[in-house]
Order: sequence, then structure tokens, then C-alpha cells
Amino acid sequence: MKFKFTLLGLLLLTINSVLAQIPTDYLSADFHKNRREILRAKMPANSVALVFANSIRNRANDVEYVFHQDPNFYYLTGYREPNAVLVIFSDNQTNEKGETYNEVLYVQEKNQRAEMWTGKRLGIEGAKKELGFSQAFNGIDFINSKMDFKKFDNVFIEKFNDDHRNSNKDKADVFDLVKSFKMASGYNPDIFLSPTKKYVYNLIKTTPIEKRVELSAKIKTYLSYYPELQDDKFIADYLKTDMALSSKDIQENAMLALQPKTNLDIDFLPSNLATMRETKTPAELKLLTKAVRISAVGQIEMMKAMKPDMSETEIQGIHEFVYKKYGAEYEGYPSIVGAGNNGCILHYMENNKTKVDNDLVLMDLGAEYHGYTADVTRTVPANGKFSKEQKEIYDLVYKAQEAGIAEYVIGNSMSKPNQVAIKIINEGLFKLGIIKSVDEKHNYFPHGTSHHIGLDVHDPGNYNMFEENMVVTMEPGIYIPEGSKCDKKYWSIGVRIEDDILITKNGPKNLSEEAPRTTEAIEKMMAKKSVLDNFLLPSLD
Ligand code: GLY
Ligand code: MN
Ligand code: MN
Repeated sequence: MKFKFTLLGLLLLTINSVLAQIPTDYLSADFHKNRREILRAKMPANSVALVFANSIRNRANDVEYVFHQDPNFYYLTGYREPNAVLVIFSDNQTNEKGETYNEVLYVQEKNQRAEMWTGKRLGIEGAKKELGFSQAFNGIDFINSKMDFKKFDNVFIEKFNDDHRNSNKDKADVFDLVKSFKMASGYNPDIFLSPTKKYVYNLIKTTPIEKRVELSAKIKTYLSYYPELQDDKFIADYLKTDMALSSKDIQENAMLALQPKTNLDIDFLPSNLATMRETKTPAELKLLTKAVRISAVGQIEMMKAMKPDMSETEIQGIHEFVYKKYGAEYEGYPSIVGAGNNGCILHYMENNKTKVDNDLVLMDLGAEYHGYTADVTRTVPANGKFSKEQKEIYDLVYKAQEAGIAEYVIGNSMSKPNQVAIKIINEGLFKLGIIKSVDEKHNYFPHGTSHHIGLDVHDPGNYNMFEENMVVTMEPGIYIPEGSKCDKKYWSIGVRIEDDILITKNGPKNLSEEAPRTTEAIEKMMAKKSVLDNFLLPSLD
């Protein structure tokens, strides 16, 4: 019966969406509910978790930056508005009406005037009906609820970046929600050990007493990099090597120092959500695959349309036009379009060269479709034909990529593709005379090859072994900026080839394979006509 009711609800929502002509393929309320249930099952008894939505950021005067939801918050709720907080309890709670519940969503309040300017808000009723929360309230109710956080053994939160503005128009924006939580919970950033301190404490704990002098010397070098270590009493005592400490003393002191002095915990949520988010459900794969295929079509259309007298900005615009045509709301990260030497800047974002000329153009762009983002790079010669040197470098990157993709196999270490790529690139650079030996330290390939994609372009994960239904980039590159210590003929060549690979039981599946990758296939595609060839705008000069 309940099943039928859910189906009916879904049907009504779909009919509503069709009538309103808005997308009908968002993740379902059940998807998000299921994510919350999985997270709850990992929480120890008598614990509570809080996840805050993103805030609105001001650009200037009365113009705001385009709002984007916090990925963890979206994953757990499906709510696409700012100024909200999700509270998940490990155990059932009972309210004054005797109703039991184990989660509450506090949303931004409905407000006729605000909605007239910036659009509809879901409000409490919408959160109940569309997102499936039995308990939903306004943000101000969270502030007024004076929840007792001290009674829980663990209060799981994410690290606060404290970069929310306090808008005087809204009494329950993220700034206010976080502030009220901090007051109620006794939050103080100093109660958390920084990762650096944790690292040093662990080193002390695990190093035998006979090695105390050596470890002390090592720690002393850290003190100059990390001032926060300098006034730590436990570390200071350890460094006084004339102070008699037994192995047992050290162990006990380190345990004491590592012991949390609070019920607040900032590690549980990021680590468990990373584990959950690193493998994708079928519903997520559908959206992610769509984002990747849209981005691949963007590359194809751009290859056909490319002309040497185009600007980097125009090339960016053509990709993004294709994204929008398919209904992708955003780009997953600032688009990178770099011609020639600009292609050697890894995350180049200015995209303001007015003419790409006869250079290679590195195009690293990703459509974001209903929250899920692709990350696809193609590097093409603006005039449609690779020069000898461009092809030499390109083929080397391609070879490294192919060898790397072959390692995207369940059970393989996720660092393997990078290792394979480095070896091939070093051997190739040596053969071309760009480096003097295969072991030479160089900066021509300064980044790794493999990261998860999903709700974030650099999606969280544990980065251990490949597992079924992970989607991971494979992106080797070679960048030879002007002035490099090699033959000038290679200067200003920057090549990256990046594909999004799904790990399956049957081996790697390249989701971005539609966009040509070999030099031959790229040249063939670039020789094709484009509908944009005749898209001429009047001169404004
Ligand atoms: N587009 C950013 C990256 O490739 O990681
Ligand atoms: Mn990438
Ligand atoms: Mn990329």
C-alpha cells in the first residue's frame, strides 16, 4: 500500500513537472532518503549529524553570485535552495505531539516579497511533499529550538569555513544558523586537532623511544613550517630529549593528546560521505553519463567549428552553448580554454586571447547536469592539422592515457594509472631529447591522472582501489612553456587528454569516448563542416 502511495506521489509530481515544463529527471526523493538511511546506519548510538546548506554570496551591491548547493547537503536532501540545515539522529526522537522522527530539515521560509524577486521557495510544505521529510521547519525554528547538543555522545559536523555573510534581510541565513549551532554546542575551533598536529602526535606515538633523537630533529624542521606546533606543550616536552620519558609515558601522553575533549567531531561526516559518494548508484550514473556525453558533444561541435581567428572566449562560449542546449544548468568548474602557451597553465581561466591562431588549443570543460559534472579535455590544432612537434607530444600523451585506462580495473590500486603514465611520458620525453635522462626531475607533467567525478569535479573518495561503479578521470598531460630548457621547437605546446572512465565488471568503459582522441580522428572531425560556419554576427566597430 505504502509502495502504491509513493508511486502515486511520484506520478503526481511528474505530471506537475511536465505541466510546468521543468525537468522531470532529477534524483528522486527516495534516492536522497536512502542516502540518509545509509549514513544513519553508520552513526553510533546517541549521536546526531548536522549538514548545512550553502549560503548566498554577494558579488557587488545588490547582485549575488549564482547560487550553488553544497554537494554533501544536496546528496542527502535534494534541496536546491540556500539557508537550510539537515539534522540526522542515530536514534528515534519524540516530539511534544508524541510523533517519532529521526531527521529534520530546516528550510528557508516562504516569503511572498522575496519570491517575487528571486523565485519560488519550497518552504515547509514543499520540503515535506517533494523531498519526503516528515519533519520540516523554517530555519528560524532551528535557532529557536535551543537543541541540547551536550546530551549526545557524538555531534557530527563538517569543518566550518566561516565564509558566510550575515545578510540583514534574513534572520535565519546560514551565518545565523551556524552561529546559533556554535553557541548551543559550545563549538570552539581550538578543540579540534589540526591534521598537522595529529600527524606529529601519531609519529610520536608510533616511533620507538630509541629513535627519539632522530624524530625530534625531524619535528624541529616542521616547527619552522607550522607555527601552530611551536606552542604545543606535548610536542615541546617530547623535544626536550634530556627529559626522561619512557616508551609508556610517550604512548600515554600521545593518547591523551589525541583524545577528543569534546563530543563534536569533524572527521566522521567527510570520511563516511567520501566512502558513500565514491561509488555511484544507477540513478547517479544516468545523470553523470549524460553530463559526460553532453561535454563530449561540446568537444565535437567545437572541433568542427574551430577557426584560427576565433578567440578563446568564443570557443568557451560554443562549448557552453551546447551544454545549455542539452539543459545542463552549469559548468562543473570554470572552463579552461588555452591556446599555445596558455595551454601550459594547468587551470587557466582568463580565456581572453583574442586569436588562437595556428596554436594547439587545450579545452578542459565539463557540463554539470542536475548536479553531476563531467571533466573532459581535448587538445586540438586550431588550423585543423597537427604539426610534427605537436603530434610527437600529443601521441606521447595519448599513449600514456591508453596505457593508464587499461589499469582501470576492479581491485587495482588507484595510483597505478598515474605510475604507468609517468613511466611512458618520461621515456618518451627522453627519446625526444626534451629531458636528459628518464630519471630527470622535471615539471613537464606536474599533476596526477586520476580523480573521482560526481557532484564535485574533484569528488571525494578514499583513493584506495578501483571499485565497480566509480567514475574516475584519466588525464595525463605534457606542458612545455616558453623558455623551457629544451629545443625551442617544442615551446608553447601544452597537451592534456582527459576522459571519464566508469569502472565495470567487464573493465573500463570510457564515457567520453564519443569525442575523438587520436590525431587522425581529430583532424578528420575538424575537416567537417559546422552549422556555426554560417553563424555570422554584424560587426559593431
Ligand atoms: N578540470 C580540472 C581537472 O582536470 O582536474
Ligand atoms: Mn580532471
Ligand atoms: Mn579537467
